[in-house]
Amino acid sequence: MHTHWGSKLGFVLATAGSAVGLGNIWRFPYLIAQNGGGAFLLVYLLCVGLLGYFLLTAKITFGRIAATNFIDGFQKVTNGAASRLWSRLGGFLTIFNVFFVSAVYVVVIGWTLSYVVASAQNLIGFSSVAIDKNLFETLTASYGTQLFWGILCIVVTSLILIRGVKGGIEKTSLYLMPFLFLLLIFMVAWMFMIPGSEKGLKFLFTPNWADLGITESGFDIHKLAHVALLALGQAIYSLSLGMGVCFIYGSYLKPNTDIKKSGLWVVILDTLVATLASMIVVPAVFAFGLESNQGPGLSFITLPFVFSQMAGGKIFMFVFFLLLFVAALTSLISIYEPVINLLIERKGLSRKMATMCVAGMNVILSAVVLASFTGHLSWTILGKNLFDCADYVTGSYTMGLMVLIYCVFMGWKIWPQIRDNLKIKNKIFENYFSFVIKILSPIILVLLFIMA
Ligand code: ALA
Repeated sequence: MHTHWGSKLGFVLATAGSAVGLGNIWRFPYLIAQNGGGAFLLVYLLCVGLLGYFLLTAKITFGRIAATNFIDGFQKVTNGAASRLWSRLGGFLTIFNVFFVSAVYVVVIGWTLSYVVASAQNLIGFSSVAIDKNLFETLTASYGTQLFWGILCIVVTSLILIRGVKGGIEKTSLYLMPFLFLLLIFMVAWMFMIPGSEKGLKFLFTPNWADLGITESGFDIHKLAHVALLALGQAIYSLSLGMGVCFIYGSYLKPNTDIKKSGLWVVILDTLVATLASMIVVPAVFAFGLESNQGPGLSFITLPFVFSQMAGGKIFMFVFFLLLFVAALTSLISIYEPVINLLIERKGLSRKMATMCVAGMNVILSAVVLASFTGHLSWTILGKNLFDCADYVTGSYTMGLMVLIYCVFMGWKIWPQIRDNLKIKNKIFENYFSFVIKILSPIILVLLFIMA
């Protein structure tokens, strides 16, 4: 029997928990810092508002209509009329994305957990390990240490998932998401009091048009396309649109939940967290006169240095990494769920067994990408180690491809069902919604693939 959420709030917080993750707190601030501050924020907001919300809402609705796993869903909503190719393609991409995204995710969440522990030890005076560039370099060079932290995160995730949708995912989200918002507000408020932080805020909220390729002397379309691709890719990643999560979370919904409203809440919360996280990270770096465009190392190298210079920095450091860990944990939970549900419904496995299979696969793939990352394995693809390659291929192509396939299916095969299930009353809203799913999103995705 396909299960249901216990409450609407549980659904909204679980979906927001999936959306809010490393993407918001680790990735978004460095993307913003590297791509023109306010200018990138503006393009991102346009991507989320004009496309992301509609894609999220449509996928959740598709899931609710199907009320089954992500492979049988294509047939079920068309009473068996849809070609098997849809479920094969959609199914293959979902499984591919789930396993390769989680393989990389686990490594980064493992770093985060190790930083939570190190900063907690410093805070209580148990040790005085310097959380600096050296620590990060030592950690990322050690295969065994990273695998240990990664496996620990997989175990925690599995223990939650074994407890089921209501007892595990929903309950965890009901506790952890309010906690996460409290931590975030605490950090932003503190950051406002740090002298010099206003320079970072100005950078964040003042668009630098040249970074979008718009100058007085002309218009650089390639630059703009590059930023748009990054922003749309980030929106797809952040709203968990390319891994079957929205579909499966939607499939657990009861008919009376207003998906238009719930989807709006999820998008608002996700965007708010990404913006607030940037309002912590970027001003912190600016206040100490450091370079903010440092890429992935921003959270693990630059920020700890900044925290170590600040009054109350030990608490700040601990709270920041705890925040990052909590956000990532609720996302990792959601990334596993589509395949767990598939194994239960199609293979007849118990929830415990299905969770263990997904977790086991995650351990194996993480062990392989990690070995390539640390140089213990010399395999490369596209000139990249397997860790970078998995991140690049899923982030730039396969998640976008999956969104494209879902858009074509939802727009051209089942749009009337989506529209009726959503109970759309406003004609303008309905026309724009169908335009986004049928035409705008597919065209933009194809164009961006070509340009990339
Ligand atoms: N949506 C998740 C994140 O942003 C995957 O990290």
